[in-house]
Amino acid sequence: MAELLPVEPFDIVVFGATGDLALRKLVPALFHRWCDGQIPPESRIIAASRDTLDGDAYRELAATHILAEDASENRKARWTEFAQRLVYLSVDATGDGEGWKELSAALDPDENKIRLFYLALPPSIYGQVCAAIGRHGLNSKNARIILEKPIGKDFHSARLINDQVGEVFPENSIFRIDHYLGKETVQNLLILRFANFLFEPMWNAAGIDHVQITVAESLGAGQRASYYDRSGALRDMVQNHLLQLVCLVAMEAPNSLDADAVRTEKLKVLKALRPVTADSVGQDVVRGQYRAGAVEGEPAEGYADEVGHESDTETFVAMRAHIDNWRWAGVPFYLRTGKRMSDRRSEIIVQFKPVPHDVVGSASGAPHPNRLIIRLQPDEGVKLMLMTKDPGPGGLRLRYVPLNLSYAEHFEGGYPDAYERLLMAVVRGNLSLFMRRDEVEASWRWIDQIIQAWDQGHSKLYGYQAGTDGPTQSDFLLAREDREWFDAVTR
Ligand code: BG6
Repeated sequence: MAELLPVEPFDIVVFGATGDLALRKLVPALFHRWCDGQIPPESRIIAASRDTLDGDAYRELAATHILAEDASENRKARWTEFAQRLVYLSVDATGDGEGWKELSAALDPDENKIRLFYLALPPSIYGQVCAAIGRHGLNSKNARIILEKPIGKDFHSARLINDQVGEVFPENSIFRIDHYLGKETVQNLLILRFANFLFEPMWNAAGIDHVQITVAESLGAGQRASYYDRSGALRDMVQNHLLQLVCLVAMEAPNSLDADAVRTEKLKVLKALRPVTADSVGQDVVRGQYRAGAVEGEPAEGYADEVGHESDTETFVAMRAHIDNWRWAGVPFYLRTGKRMSDRRSEIIVQFKPVPHDVVGSASGAPHPNRLIIRLQPDEGVKLMLMTKDPGPGGLRLRYVPLNLSYAEHFEGGYPDAYERLLMAVVRGNLSLFMRRDEVEASWRWIDQIIQAWDQGHSKLYGYQAGTDGPTQSDFLLAREDREWFDAVTR
């Protein structure tokens, strides 16, 4: 693993500290960075929520999550050090009251110290919390706000939130998290494309037949069912994670990795997405919901039973998207995401065009077009499928084999998880891994059209058995163009 450089000392306030995100992801992420020596000892972690708890009770609660992974003596010792920097305060994030005074007193009064506010809260109250931060004068010179996705539930609510947050924090202090951008393999997409000469000359409609992006999960809605049931797969996954992946695959080369250079290129992709209309939605978008089945050998109940009522929420979306510009004219991007699918698997597959003329001849089998498989998780890696000669005498036979870069084999020692990387990026003030306001709004504009088309009655919901790759209609989406999802190849 590359050398880790410590960041500057900082104070972080995590609002929503007793929630799932804070306990499962944020506090552990900070702890891991502490263990790796990246967080200087002058830093403070202030956990805040409405719950009335004392500091010890909170630290104990947090410890159960941290020590569940590893309860070795060494780990306990590191936790004891870290816990000394972890303060808990009961604060009504949207209101006034004593908690804010305590919060203000707990923060370093040094105006220059980096101060982060992480809102692990429902987006509907982001505006109110920012207003309260402003009212209490806590938005100091180096204060930054971190907003969890989803920013809103449509374009208008996103714009309102952005306006409200923007009244207290300037845009370059607003860090909108899409945790996919913190994944090692997602960041590697830019490097793969722009630090190698190999791909870029053919990374366009002349060289590429189509692109498939799959983010499959084996888990169901689970404990987040009440949020998920109001959201569905389109808002929960496509609006952010999948569209961000589309941007990274499709964007033009920025002139540098400077945040605005990258984000401006991503924005152009979002703006070039062909609108989905009431006429095209039935053809181009498939909605699904899981029924009872079995996932990875275990019986799994259907979505309605899991959430406890009949529901029209989609747990699966597959779609054919087009990017209307010169580079991508005529190249479909097939996107797919769902819960309770056969396995957990996120990957991008770039299918190149076939060779223009087969010199080998049909007796040896037609050459398969090259295919680049970028596996985001699990088993991170990159495979380039190539035609080779099957070794040995007895005639010329071809074989389709991978050039295989496996992260596990090449990069020993693992690497920080997405939240760890993103939190450290906020401390460094590196905005390139975060969504700019106009990106979020542009992706909602595109998603809103699909939702409107569904609302106009074009929203048939197809059932699929838990543990499968979605409804058969998702296969038809490709089959009618003589293509197929490459599940069997990559599994
Ligand atoms: C979140 C979604 O943003 O991403 C969840 O809200 C989803 O529904 C999760 O499960 C998937 O993230 P990962 O990192 O496990 O692929």
